[in-house]
Amino acid sequence: MTLLSFETSCDETSVAVLRDGVVLSNQVASQIKLHGEYGGVVPELAAREHLKNLLPVARAALAEAGISPSQLDAVAATQGPGLAIALLIGLKAAQAVAFALCKPFLGINHHEAHLYSPWITGNPPAADFSNFEPNVSLIVSGGHTLLVMVEAELRHRVLGGTIDDAAGECFDKTGKLMGLAYPAGPLIDQLAQQGDPAAYDFPRPLINDPNDDFSFSGLKTSVRYYLRDHPDILADAQKVRDLCASVQAAIVEVLVTKTIRAAKRSGVRCVTASGGVTCNQGLRIGLERACQKNGFHLRLAARNLCTDNAAMIGILAGRKLLKGEGASAPDSEAEPGWALG
Ligand code: KG4
Ligand code: ZN
Repeated sequence: MTLLSFETSCDETSVAVLRDGVVLSNQVASQIKLHGEYGGVVPELAAREHLKNLLPVARAALAEAGISPSQLDAVAATQGPGLAIALLIGLKAAQAVAFALCKPFLGINHHEAHLYSPWITGNPPAADFSNFEPNVSLIVSGGHTLLVMVEAELRHRVLGGTIDDAAGECFDKTGKLMGLAYPAGPLIDQLAQQGDPAAYDFPRPLINDPNDDFSFSGLKTSVRYYLRDHPDILADAQKVRDLCASVQAAIVEVLVTKTIRAAKRSGVRCVTASGGVTCNQGLRIGLERACQKNGFHLRLAARNLCTDNAAMIGILAGRKLLKGEGASAPDSEAEPGWALG
C-alpha cells in the first residue's frame, strides 16, 4: 500500500510518502525562523506559509520517493488538534488529492500519530509493527504534555496531561525571561550542557502528586521572581548556563519521575516518548537511565521525528487501513480541539 500524508497543524509543512509501513520520504519545511521574530507562532502567517510551501514540499516528497500520484492507494492528513487555519491547508489539499485520484482519505489525530513515531525507526525498524508492545507514552511539545497508556495498537487511554503550560512552553517562556530567542528549548538544552543543574533550586510541580497530571506555570513564575530579585545573573554567561541547567533539570525530573511512576503502575514493560521536547538531551538521558534502572524498554522517537512530521501521520493511517479502520468522510472538517480520548 502506497500512501501520501500531510501535516500542517502548526508551524511545520510536512509531506511524506510511505509504502507498506516504510517511510520513503518525509519532507519538512519549518517556519521556526519566521515565527521567531514574533516570539511565538502567528496562526495567520503559519497558514500563508503552508499555502506557499505545500506544493513544493509535496513534489519533493513524491520525487524523493520515486512515486507518481497515480501510484497512490490512499491519502491522509492531520485533522486536529492544531491551529484551525493551518490545519485546513493540509487537510483540504489531502482531500482534493484523494478526490482527484478516487482514493480513500484518512483524517488523523495529531497526538495519536505522535504515539507511533517512536516505532517508525529504531532497533530493529518496526515497519510491520511485529515488535510493538503495550507502552506508556510521553508526548511533550510546545503545546502539549500528555501521558498515555497505549494498551494495544490503535487502543489507548490518556492518563494525564498538563493543567496549565506545556513542558516546551515552559522551556520557551523561561528562556524568554533570560533573553533567549524563540523557541528557547533547543538553546536551553545547548547552554545547559555546560551548566550546573544544582546551582539553583526550582520547584518540581506535582512531582509527588499520585495522579498523572503536570503543571509548569509555577516553575516559570519562580524563575521570573528569581530573575526579578537577581537581575545581575543575566550579565554572567556561566550563571546563565547554570540557570538553564537548573530549569532543565527541574522540567526533566518531573517528566521522568511521573512517566516512570505511570509505567510501573500500569504494568507495561515499555516506555516511549515523542514531541519536540524529546529532542532534549537531558530528557533523553534521564529517560534512558530511569528505564534502565527500572527494567523498562525505552523507545525514543528519532530526533527528526520528534518534531511535527507527516511520516507519523502516514504510519498511523497505514496501520488504520490495515486493521480495517475505514476511511474518513471525504470532506470532513478540521477539528482544532480534537482531544485524544
Ligand atoms: O513538537 P514541536 O515541534 O511543536 C509543537 O509544539 O507541536 O515542539 C516544539 C517545542 C518547542 O517548545 C521547543 O522549544 C521544544 O519543542 N524543543 C525543545 C528542544 N527542541 C525543541 N525543548 C527542549 N530541548 C530541546 N532540545
Ligand atoms: Zn506535535
